[in-house]
Amino acid sequence: EKGGHDYFMLKEIEEQPEALANTLRGHFVDGRIVLDEQRMADQDLRDVDKVFVIACGTAYHSGLVAKYAIEHWTRLPVEVELASEFRYRDPVLDRDTLVVAISQSGETADTLEAVRHAREQKARVLAICNTNGAQIPRESDAVLYTHAGPEVGVAATKTFLAQIAANFLVGLALAQARGTKYSDEVAREFHELEQMPAAVSQVLQTVDSVRALGRQLADSKAVLFLGRHVGYPVALEGALKLKELAYMHAEGFAAGELKHGPIALIEQDLPVVVVMPSPKGRAVLHAKLLSNISEIQARGARTIVIAEEGDETVRPFADELIEVPQVPTLLQPLVSTVPLQVLAAEIARARGYDVDKPRNLAKSVTVE
Ligand code: F6R
Repeated sequence: EKGGHDYFMLKEIEEQPEALANTLRGHFVDGRIVLDEQRMADQDLRDVDKVFVIACGTAYHSGLVAKYAIEHWTRLPVEVELASEFRYRDPVLDRDTLVVAISQSGETADTLEAVRHAREQKARVLAICNTNGAQIPRESDAVLYTHAGPEVGVAATKTFLAQIAANFLVGLALAQARGTKYSDEVAREFHELEQMPAAVSQVLQTVDSVRALGRQLADSKAVLFLGRHVGYPVALEGALKLKELAYMHAEGFAAGELKHGPIALIEQDLPVVVVMPSPKGRAVLHAKLLSNISEIQARGARTIVIAEEGDETVRPFADELIEVPQVPTLLQPLVSTVPLQVLAAEIARARGYDVDKPRNLAKSVTVE
């Protein structure tokens, strides 16, 4: 049942192309995005004037990725917030606010309470969920299921990629309903998304070197992760995976914040993972990150760089280079997260831990 692997998590990492394809399937019909499990009329989507995304943990990171795409496609303001913070605030919501509640299990207590809090204020709630009939979709106005299949490993992997894809479908449906994108542009974005299962398969074929690197890093005291733009939530997710699986101190930073504090942490041989944007897609950001890496390299850090295939400019700054296929900028998290999942799993295994059942953690957090 583990498909020849010692752990479910390793099998679930390999199932990511399928999880993505299954989540996208059936949502583009006759040239239009359809959210068919949605019980929300087109008119409701047209009236939306603000989006809140609420979630916990890895699901929250998928929401952070989605913000870049939804704002870009729809020109609607998008706020992404931890459910445990949202529910105790007095957020400004009304019936034209769309709240997207993301939860793999559909049972997370804080996310459920945040949904109730939003609905009391008449906001419309769309759940993105991986579990049929769970409490959060039951209490939401509409649901979009991620069809990632059951996830047994406590650490979220394939559901993270599926959540990003589902969020993108919501963004495209909003753009379509509001007319902020022409239908041929929506179609083009969807077809780009449809290429992603193949791109993720390509990454999976190259992760042996990441495994070897993981074994080398098993004795590190800490690992830092840096990213910008959509690479920033990827850095946060890479750090979360490493904390929960390898019990190692790990932190993700927005690369632009380096000089505002974190650079003081850099010391000889400290592994720092850097998620590079595409040199063509985001030339300005790429140049900024190159300068960030040169600064940390000058202070003796061991740089582990995730970069687009063929990006020669980054080579001199990378002690270890992990290449991912060239994909549109907004979709890059779908490829760049995968090596970080493998890295965390491998470091944890090298340290002798059970990656399916990390200590102190439960698959669904139904208590607060
Ligand atoms: C991390 C992880 C957790 C969950 C979080 C939310 O690998 O699994 O951070 O993402 O507990 O869970 P759901 O999505 O079920 O609401």
